[in-house]
Amino acid sequence: MLTLALPKGRIAEETLAIFSEIFGGEFAFSGRELIMEQHGFRFLNVRNQDVPTYVEHGAADLGVVGLDVITEQRLEIIDLLDLNIGRCKVAIGIRNEETLDWNRPDIKIATKMVNITRDYFAQKAVGVEVIKLYGSIELAPLVGLADAIVDIVETGSTMRENGLKVAEEIMGSSAHLIANANSYYAKKEAILDLHEKIAAIIQ
Ligand code: PRP
Repeated sequence: MLTLALPKGRIAEETLAIFSEIFGGEFAFSGRELIMEQHGFRFLNVRNQDVPTYVEHGAADLGVVGLDVITEQRLEIIDLLDLNIGRCKVAIGIRNEETLDWNRPDIKIATKMVNITRDYFAQKAVGVEVIKLYGSIELAPLVGLADAIVDIVETGSTMRENGLKVAEEIMGSSAHLIANANSYYAKKEAILDLHEKIAAIIQ
């Protein structure tokens, strides 16, 4: 049996819809259920940020997680497949009336994605002061906590509604199917079989 950790919400629903399409029948968590078994698979309903933990520790063989999270957390997992759902971008956001001044020493950036931010600025050989936040990142430049932000942009409405614009795109992201390395070797046949079926559906 393969165990998959899915991030609660839309990505879990869209992943389960792929399983329904492949195997038939309904794949869905009912009510507040956290574990569901269907068609020889066990699905775990976990918080988005916790998916990598379940997979890295091997409590789940597989997981669905954003490329942004894989990059930010430098996960020791096997990246199997881009599921092409949950598309978004990681971008630098700044107030509408401003432009990002790369010559300014120590630009202050508020973000949840500390590693992605540090790596991006290091690549450009620009000093940066990173201020770690856990949410509502768009607020920081509005109240002078930071000069700019690095955050996820999906529809763009959060930035727009808060008078911010994208100054630069750092990377594109989407949900990927990942595997625990030990599971990948121990259950290779089952994992490759599933991989093949999913890849055929999402082409
Ligand atoms: C994410 C992200 C932005 C927003 C972008 O936040 O941090 O705030 O979505 O989406 P949009 O471009 O479609 O407006 P999320 O809703 O995950 O909440 P968080 O602030 O708790 O991270």
